[in-house]
Amino acid sequence: MRDFDENNITAAVIDRYQNTPDPRLKKIMTSLVQHLHDFVRDVELTEAEWTHAIDYLTRTGKLCTDKRQEFILLSDTLGVSMLVDAINHRFAEGATESTVMGPFYVQNPPEAAFGADIRGEAKGEPLYIDGSILSEDGKPVANAIVDVWHSDAEGFYDVQLPELEEPTLRARFHSDAQGRFRFWTIMPRYYPIPYDGTVGDMLKASARHPYRPAHVHFMIIAGGHETLVTHVFVDGDQYLDSDAVFAVKNSLIRDFTREAPGIAPDGKKIDTPWRKLQTNFVLSKVMAKKSAPAA
Ligand code: BEZ
Ligand code: FE
Repeated sequence: MRDFDENNITAAVIDRYQNTPDPRLKKIMTSLVQHLHDFVRDVELTEAEWTHAIDYLTRTGKLCTDKRQEFILLSDTLGVSMLVDAINHRFAEGATESTVMGPFYVQNPPEAAFGADIRGEAKGEPLYIDGSILSEDGKPVANAIVDVWHSDAEGFYDVQLPELEEPTLRARFHSDAQGRFRFWTIMPRYYPIPYDGTVGDMLKASARHPYRPAHVHFMIIAGGHETLVTHVFVDGDQYLDSDAVFAVKNSLIRDFTREAPGIAPDGKKIDTPWRKLQTNFVLSKVMAKKSAPAA
């Protein structure tokens, strides 16, 4: 067939995927071509805009290294990461909701004991976090891996501060026989996602801000359960309703209570005001894996 025009070219391109052996790939390519062509027709893309888009994607790719993933950040700021998260983590009723991982997780964080202080040299308002890991049936989950990471009081992660020699404000805990974990840290702050690249250009051009509300990240891994990647957000933060990556869920917002100087629950004496977070995580039991639908 020849003489493709703006109306018949889509069917012709889709037809070229007829013999794709993998049915899932066939479905994805067919839908991608359909939606991409519909988009181009919908906005009547100009050649200058097409060139700009190619240049934008090229610059985005060039920014990617083993330390920076501008494409994931683009996916985050377009809401695609949260959409993929929602589709892939339809947990059991009552299980804690998931949210994006973000770029600041570091594999194999330092192991920390029950009740440890993970502040290192970071300065800020002391925060005591006390939680339990439960299964969807309410039973405690012992020996779960509880990875934690968060920003400092100025909104920076340790990996953004080259002067820090040790991992700070990140650790790996293991829940005890009753499913509990405890630790001391400092209050996190809201912060901007990296906006000195192409994602920042897009945000600025669209009059969007780059901020995320203050939160603490958790990744919880336990045998027989779905891995949970989530955050706990600080109630009252000014960016809860405009998170740059659309990751806030009401069920993940917590009251980080203000406490007066005195004796903390672990018997520690504190001379300054401090904050306390009590938070449980409910894990979904392992769910049956979806097999690829037939084409
Ligand atoms: C974060 O919370 O660490 C994060 C998530 C998505 C994009 C940038 C940062
Ligand atoms: Fe974060």
